[in-house]
Amino acid sequence: MLDDASSQVILSATAGPLPAASADAVRALADRAAAVDGVPPLSEQPLLWLAAPEAPVVHLCATVDDDLVGYAQLDVGAQTSTKAELVVDPTHRRAGVGRALLGRALAETTVVPGRTLRVWAHGDLPAARRFAEDQGMAVVRELLQMRVDLTTRPTGAPNLPTGVTVRTFVPGRDEEAWRRVNSRAFSYHPEQGRMTSADLRARESEPWFDPDGFLLAERDGILLGSVWTKVHPAGEHGAEPVGEIYVVGVDPDAQGLGLGRALTALGLDHLTSLGLREAILYTGAENTVAVHTYERAGFVRAAVDVMFGSDTPSSPAGVTMGA
Ligand SMILES: CC(C)(COP(=O)(O)OP(=O)(O)OC[C@H]1O[C@@H](n2cnc3c(N)ncnc32)[C@H](O)[C@@H]1OP(=O)(O)O)[C@@H](O)C(=O)NCCC(=O)NCCS
Repeated sequence: MLDDASSQVILSATAGPLPAASADAVRALADRAAAVDGVPPLSEQPLLWLAAPEAPVVHLCATVDDDLVGYAQLDVGAQTSTKAELVVDPTHRRAGVGRALLGRALAETTVVPGRTLRVWAHGDLPAARRFAEDQGMAVVRELLQMRVDLTTRPTGAPNLPTGVTVRTFVPGRDEEAWRRVNSRAFSYHPEQGRMTSADLRARESEPWFDPDGFLLAERDGILLGSVWTKVHPAGEHGAEPVGEIYVVGVDPDAQGLGLGRALTALGLDHLTSLGLREAILYTGAENTVAVHTYERAGFVRAAVDVMFGSDTPSSPAGVTMGA
């Protein structure tokens, strides 16, 4: 652990898992910020990585009198760019804590020559925009959150390509085939495409995991694509529980057959059968094929997450849809 101090704020950097008490303090900080900002500042992966032994991350903690007032998590698993999410306690903002965390994040990033820093801002809040501008960072990616009213969406029997059958995921048996198709489907995607078997198993251990909502499309026993759904409990995305089309992925060899549309419809049918009234999904704003398909399924744009950086955006090579 390395320490440095600027006025009364102490910054520490930790590689490897945080102690349980520190991980709890980060979750509490994120909750305090979400209550004020109306949007959680840390997404699912950083929360899972807080205490994960093999997480490729550096944790930056800013404390005042031993109280956690700011936190940044740096995903240092890629050579070309470091991804960060950061949050400052609402009662300690405009005091330079964010600037100090970002400065340290930059220093950690440039340990590898040429590596760039990218920062996710959830909800595209005005403070984050101004903060990024102040730091000389521009928007390099946008992630759309889309929503659909499950009670009024267009329905009808999903049109599966000839010979394709659908069954539910079997834990302990289907991981490797799913991971292989997922990495092919999302080869262009910086996070989804490098999901490992350990990342998949971590999600299987989460309370929300339900194989009945994880559907695999096969032809002659070969996996062609899948739709994975999730249910958020009441309070996470509104007063009621909300469903999510968590990942839709179709193998590049099976794209263009209408499988993405059929799998999305089957995922929504499953969420509807649970009695849910609303579903969400996340997709890259530049992925026009996916956005168009989701709009045809009844989804509308609801919110946007923004990634800031100093480099230019890259565009997806294929027509894969997904979170
Ligand atoms: C964005 C955030 C991290 C800023 O943290 P902070 O500690 O308040 O930021 P700093 O005090 O270091 O501010 C640095 C500069 O950013 C700009 N800035 C920050 N917040 C601002 C706001 N609400 N309005 C206008 N400018 C703002 C200012 O130029 C500020 O300098 P100044 O105070 O000398 O004018 C904090 O608001 C936050 O946690 N937001 C929710 C999570 C989030 O959006 N994270 C993603 C950040 S890209």
